[in-house]
Amino acid sequence: MPTCLITGANRGLGLEFAKQYAADGWKVLATCRQPETADALNAVEGQIQVYPLDVTDFARVEALGRRLQNEAIDLLINNAGVYGPRLVRHDSVDYAAWAEVFRVNAMAPLKVSAVFLDHVRRGNHKLIVAITSKMGSLADNTSGGVYLYRSSKAALNAVMRSLSIDLRDQGIAVVLLNPGWVRTDMGGPGAELEAFESVAGMRDVIAGLSFEDSGRWLNYDGTDVAW
Ligand SMILES: NC(=O)c1ccc[n+]([C@@H]2O[C@H](COP(=O)([O-])OP(=O)(O)OC[C@H]3O[C@@H](n4cnc5c(N)ncnc54)[C@H](OP(=O)(O)O)[C@@H]3O)[C@@H](O)[C@H]2O)c1
Repeated sequence: MPTCLITGANRGLGLEFAKQYAADGWKVLATCRQPETADALNAVEGQIQVYPLDVTDFARVEALGRRLQNEAIDLLINNAGVYGPRLVRHDSVDYAAWAEVFRVNAMAPLKVSAVFLDHVRRGNHKLIVAITSKMGSLADNTSGGVYLYRSSKAALNAVMRSLSIDLRDQGIAVVLLNPGWVRTDMGGPGAELEAFESVAGMRDVIAGLSFEDSGRWLNYDGTDVAW
């Protein structure tokens, strides 16, 4: 059975990815900041292993890479993300908070991908995905604001697009996925989708990907998202 590694797997979309892939028989390497309090994740049945990982602690990312050096990873899911402070105006920006949002959403996915590249190379699917947001779309930005989150996801898109090009000759595909607006802690109770619908859709998209799709940005329903 294939193996996936998921960041931020203790709640929200990451937890749902862990549940669905484990239920499907995959081996799941689930990472989260505090496994000792990750009750829902620890209760997931199947072939699942839980590892501590704060994606912004790059030394720990490297240490986990070494610890899992014998694993072949078919699918790496860069899911962990933060929204940052809400309702930030252009004249009231918390620049330290912005840097932290950038580190989690844009820098860490590249670090995690780089550290686990050899593991992915040994897998059969050879696929890296990053969960981005339509808020990172320049084409879709007609409402303004949300400086921190929007810019961090736009940066993530640029980073993953470059990685898709740089890894082309190694046969590793890199794809950006938009989960839709989902009822998680981040999405809030008024969002349009349940986590299971969004993740089921993204899993269908992932299952249908071929190497030629590398560098694309796809919605949970398989449609392309405008950059
Ligand atoms: N929900 C939506 O409508 C929506 C829409 C578009 C995109 N997204 C994206 O989808 C992804 C998952 O979002 P979600 O809705 O599931 O959000 P969520 O419910 O707020 O969950 C975020 C997850 O990221 C983890 N995380 C945050 N910072 C981390 C760090 N430094 N190291 C490791 N893990 C960290 C959190 O862990 P802790 O529990 O330790 O904080 C949590 O597991 C994010 O990338 C988000 O930007 C969500």
